[in-house]
Amino acid sequence: MADIAQIFEAPGMEPPDAGLTSAPCIMLIFGASGDLTKRLLVPALYNLACDGMLSDNFAVLGTAMTPLTTETFREQMGSDDQGIRKFHTRKAFSEPICEKLVERFHYVASSFDNIEDFRMLREQVARLDAQYQAGGNILFYFATAPGFFGMLCDNLYQAGFKEGPGWRRIIVEKPFGSDLESARQLNQAILAHWDESNIYRIDHYLGKETVQNLLAFRFSNGMFEPLWNKNFIDNIQFNVCEEVDVGTRGGYYDNAGVLRDMMQNHMFQMLAYLCMEPPASFKADAIRNEKANVLNSVRVYKREEVPNFFVRGQYGPSSDKDGTSKPGYRDTPDVDPQSNTETFAAGKLYIDNWRWEGVPIYLRSGKALWKRGTEIVVEFKKAPMAPFRDTPIGKHKLASNRLVFHIQPHQGIELLFQAKVPGPLLGLQKVDMRFSYGDAFNSSRYTGYEVMLYSCTHGDATLFSRGDLVEAAWKVAQPVLDYWQATPAPEFPNYRRGTWGPKVASELLKRDGRHWFEVVTTETLEGSPLFRGADPLLLNSIIMALRPITVAAGEIIINKGSLGKEMYLICHGEIEVVDGMGNVVEMLGDGDFFGEVSLLISTSRTATVRAKTHGDLFVLGRADFSRILRNHPQFAETMMKVAQERYRLTISEDQLLD
Ligand code: BG6
Repeated sequence: MADIAQIFEAPGMEPPDAGLTSAPCIMLIFGASGDLTKRLLVPALYNLACDGMLSDNFAVLGTAMTPLTTETFREQMGSDDQGIRKFHTRKAFSEPICEKLVERFHYVASSFDNIEDFRMLREQVARLDAQYQAGGNILFYFATAPGFFGMLCDNLYQAGFKEGPGWRRIIVEKPFGSDLESARQLNQAILAHWDESNIYRIDHYLGKETVQNLLAFRFSNGMFEPLWNKNFIDNIQFNVCEEVDVGTRGGYYDNAGVLRDMMQNHMFQMLAYLCMEPPASFKADAIRNEKANVLNSVRVYKREEVPNFFVRGQYGPSSDKDGTSKPGYRDTPDVDPQSNTETFAAGKLYIDNWRWEGVPIYLRSGKALWKRGTEIVVEFKKAPMAPFRDTPIGKHKLASNRLVFHIQPHQGIELLFQAKVPGPLLGLQKVDMRFSYGDAFNSSRYTGYEVMLYSCTHGDATLFSRGDLVEAAWKVAQPVLDYWQATPAPEFPNYRRGTWGPKVASELLKRDGRHWFEVVTTETLEGSPLFRGADPLLLNSIIMALRPITVAAGEIIINKGSLGKEMYLICHGEIEVVDGMGNVVEMLGDGDFFGEVSLLISTSRTATVRAKTHGDLFVLGRADFSRILRNHPQFAETMMKVAQERYRLTISEDQLLD
């Protein structure tokens, strides 16, 4: 413990005492030679070891069909290119802790359908149990393809693993079934020999600090819970955007799609946390009962209703301005070239209970989008406009208050509201209050698996899914799966990779008179050369000053010759740049910027810019930009340099701050 204590990373905190370590056990990992083990499980064990939270009476026995030995397994886990060194999440790497951990790793090859091999595994586990004094406790981890889960449960039972002292706990990875029927069958197969209390169905989103904080936030703060219902909340949006494409996972993904891969599990889990009733206690079953209740209250659509509530998308290839092109989904290895699988989905759900009746819950997720970002946006009902009728803001609409949970990569909570703009006139501006994990807590970023492994060893199933919960989530997803299966999508591919997704997603909300709340991140702004590498403080101030605008197809956004006063960021839509002869010289799309130069210097616009389609844009006014620079004079100098180096513009501070 002594060397572990030395490297405990959070200043001001003491390493936990022995009572706070994981419980003694032997962890038997099936599929130990695979990706999950090296990328997530082993780095999670390493994090626990670094924080002094891994029991000394703990060892890993890895097994898989791959013919490794204990030595080669240890070499791999400790190696530079695939082991802990590569995948750890700490700020600094500790050689001694890594070595000490790897010494506790053992490996034996086995075949999952051979009962003799399971008997051999039982002997090995017994040997390690004696060596590490693990009290007979065994944690089985199924890091295999889902097709093996039932067989593994059966063979563990047949080989006598249930006998002997200590506890038995089985962690089952996702996906748990591929539809309602297969999930039911899998539950039956697993529960044939094991009790529900032995089974820990994992969803790694529940291991994320920001997801766990949803419950802490809701139930430890008195001010929000009274507002948490249909009387005050207009709608809720769950957004899980991924920048990564399907990559090498074509074989799996083409049989899954985003509804199975992200929505039925991760997103429904977040939905349950955000919308469930207060639990009677923070005990596992109290929380899981409430989660099951809320999921069972989600309206299950009839198959023919699905197109009214759900839309889908599939990414096509992209070609960058520099001529490089990236393949579309159908060009991915192991994907059917005519594939009908959705890589994007957006939908609207209703929870038919007293708290939420009539409040739309929107969900959106996709691959190969313009950014990575998971956010939950709770939009409150608007304040009445009447009192402002006779004021200068009388002709505008009041913006709604929004509470934004930033789940990842930015981790924090933001409350958006309106404040009076200083000055003699009554003007309103959107402002925010922000809490950021990075500022408030000095702790290392975890993989999410630490807390799950730790809790499992202590028999705490709070963060794991119960069989009935998984089935409730499949019940909601099933009609959508059925409808999409039966109805090919002739429009696929319907979004370009690197964009904000297909148009149908915006249309889904537009029908309700709403729009997706796009979270602009500092990375988004860095998409413009003007802001690349800029200080986060500057970027965050700019984000706050962005105003959303909507333009109709054909509308002129910038007139050639007019004085430039604004920069634009395109959220959705196609925008064309037109020269003096009326020729379209450039097409701009989602995520593109235009007009940045006018923030630096006020000159006449050199081209006309026109919306080809309906467009949702963000605008930053020059006056706001100058105000921000005046408030943070240290950034004015940087901007002058940027103007010179990236735009060949020599400007004075006076011009910039004018
Ligand atoms: C997995 C999905 O469950 O979650 C992947 O199978 C997805 O397709 C991943 O990329 C996202 O996890 P995270 O933690 O990066 O949001």
